[in-house]
Amino acid sequence: MRLDKALAASGYGTRSEVKTLIAKGLVSVSGKVIKDPGYRIPDDELNTVEVQGQSATIREKIYLMFNKPDGVLTAMEDKRLHNVGEFIPANLKGRKLSPVGRLDFHTTGLLILTNDGELSHRITSPNYDINKVYEVTYEGPSLTSAQKDEARQGVTLLDKDKPVKLKPAVLEFVNEKQAYLTLTEGKTHEVRRIFAQWERPVTALKRVSVGSLHLDDDLEAGGLRELTNEEIDSLKELTGLL
Ligand code: URA
Repeated sequence: MRLDKALAASGYGTRSEVKTLIAKGLVSVSGKVIKDPGYRIPDDELNTVEVQGQSATIREKIYLMFNKPDGVLTAMEDKRLHNVGEFIPANLKGRKLSPVGRLDFHTTGLLILTNDGELSHRITSPNYDINKVYEVTYEGPSLTSAQKDEARQGVTLLDKDKPVKLKPAVLEFVNEKQAYLTLTEGKTHEVRRIFAQWERPVTALKRVSVGSLHLDDDLEAGGLRELTNEEIDSLKELTGLL
């Protein structure tokens, strides 16, 4: 990892501020002063970085909570459409962040962004049974216990004309037009397709939690924040990484 990037991403200032610190000889790695901002810190020396004589905490892995707005593509770049990449602050660009799973263009809510590929894989893989909770607003008659039972047993959808039985899901009613649906797999448009099968078109879809992580009530659409160590550890525990 580049020294200037590592320091900027770890909260030591903007890229130009950390370059100044480095040029002034205030940064060392393994006890050696490094004046080249492009110096690559060996992975096993990340914990030896010092800034002004104080041990620096360099974070190699980054974990963010993002409240995805409506009308944003789950991609880090796109030539035509607004996309998640536009919301990444300058000091985190180039850190190879990716969204954990996908939300539809018109789905809002919790999207984890990270460069921890293993955690991302485990959260999205159906093999790890990680709950994803969606708040669904729908049209048509209120859902009943018949749909609750069907969800619990596993809804069968048609995939290219072939019936596919989904994993069991949990349906909870919020009011006559809203429900929470908890899924553990992430098939394309899964929630919308389940509700379409029930003849209740979805008018708004928001993901409110992924595993142990809940979307902050006060994180505005388009807002980002870093996960706390407790939140990261809890996701790692859930996925068998701790
Ligand atoms: N299911 C959907 O239909 N859309 C999403 O964005 C996520 C789950």
